[in-house]
Amino acid sequence: MPGLSMAESGGGRDFPAKLTLQVFICTIIAAFGGLMFGYDIGISGGVTSMDDFLEKFFPAVYLKKHEAREDNYCKYDNQFLQLFTSSLYLAAIVSSFIASFFCKRFGRKPTIQAASIFFLAGAVLNAAAVDLGMLIAGRLCLGVGVGFGNQAVPLFISEIAPAKYRGGLNICFQLLITIGILIANLINYATSKVHPYGWRISLGGAAAPAIILAIGSLAIMETPTSLLERGKNEEALRVLRKIRGVENVDKEYSEILNAIELAKQVKHPYRNLMSRSNRPQLICGTVLQFFQQFTGINVVMFYAPVLFQTMGYGSDGSLLSAVVTDSVNVVSTLVAVFSCRYYWKKGIAHRSLSSDACCPVHLKSTNVMPGGSAKLVVILICVFVSGFAWSWGPLGWLIPSEIFPLETRSAGFFFAVSMNMFCTFLVAQAFLTMLCHLRSGIFFFFAAWIVVMGIFAIFFLPETKGIPIDEMNERVWKKHWFWKRYYKGSEINKRRQEIQDKPEEESLE
Ligand code: BGC
Repeated sequence: MPGLSMAESGGGRDFPAKLTLQVFICTIIAAFGGLMFGYDIGISGGVTSMDDFLEKFFPAVYLKKHEAREDNYCKYDNQFLQLFTSSLYLAAIVSSFIASFFCKRFGRKPTIQAASIFFLAGAVLNAAAVDLGMLIAGRLCLGVGVGFGNQAVPLFISEIAPAKYRGGLNICFQLLITIGILIANLINYATSKVHPYGWRISLGGAAAPAIILAIGSLAIMETPTSLLERGKNEEALRVLRKIRGVENVDKEYSEILNAIELAKQVKHPYRNLMSRSNRPQLICGTVLQFFQQFTGINVVMFYAPVLFQTMGYGSDGSLLSAVVTDSVNVVSTLVAVFSCRYYWKKGIAHRSLSSDACCPVHLKSTNVMPGGSAKLVVILICVFVSGFAWSWGPLGWLIPSEIFPLETRSAGFFFAVSMNMFCTFLVAQAFLTMLCHLRSGIFFFFAAWIVVMGIFAIFFLPETKGIPIDEMNERVWKKHWFWKRYYKGSEINKRRQEIQDKPEEESLE
């Protein structure tokens, strides 16, 4: 019984595969979707602190900002300003639902291509915006791009990567997110000195990675899984041989075929996703994204310039400080790309708890923070950001992309992506208001969540390192001390076992 023996072996059934140049190049190109996403995250904070931008679109905030006695915590508290940042994420939630069907029906590659077109349209609209409506329309287009890109890219990478390298390759998506954030802040730093249209350059700059993604995506290949899913068996076999760099891919090929055979019996993936035997993946996939956002990372990413201004740095100083924290983010994520083969889930818990070191610092309402304390805050923020970059950042995207069985993969990943977008929206929309009312207490709020998620990771997050993507059920979930109870007597599980028990020649036909 292949299913059982593989489960009993507890590991080792790796398929023959090399890390080929094809896989590497396809990963980097696709990860440009992450760069686009990161650019959007990073650009809004800097732009919303530029006077020219505020004066044109948010005159009330502009006036409030320049009132000498305005409360430090509340000077940017404006629902419309927050809507500018958060509207992108609302669009991303809706579009990732559409993208989950698109991804299944047309493949991962066209979904990535569609993302680049929306990104491009959004960048053009934003750069040319003459009123708030046009500005928000541009953000909505970018949001659709993010929905399509974030739905397809992590799945794409997880499906083309050999199991052994899946973690490191998938983290390239997160790496390019962080590079996008850094580039955005560097551009903001330069354009803040260009009056009165520096903000147009910042927002229009999103077009560059969108064009790179659009052209680059012509060169990537579709994943074997998606080709098989759409009945293109010969092409799938050819692609699999090419990306694995070995001739003998029969075992992996037949395993994907098995997964597809089972997936075909599932007519309603969304309904199936709600069944008891899919609950462990659904819970972990979505909860992980919830936790990722409730680390409070985007408070730093979106509002670092605003936060630094609140602490009394001038507008140059605040953008520079953001560049410092963003560089820490990039370097720490790079470390994660190479070290993820040695630590995994165990690391997530420890690092997330240690990133708690970013403790709250009290700031008086109207005065500027003393230089020493302000520097300390920047250092603590860097500690926090690197903790995130080693844990919830990359794993938040990687784990949901690899834990769902094929029959519910697109649907399940949709829940993960949209949970991420929804929580990002909540944080983006509510943070400035929360800062205004909770004051430094807001940092305790996020710190408490970090403790909860660390405990969750220790007890409920299974180890997925090195397990082939279509073997997760057998080797991960059914063996976990808690989640295994969800598999007893499940119908789909019996069918999965029957398919796996078939002799290999039969399933290869
Ligand atoms: C998150 C983003 C965050 C970024 C920071 C990503 O994994 O999804 O919301 O801004 O990491 O590096």
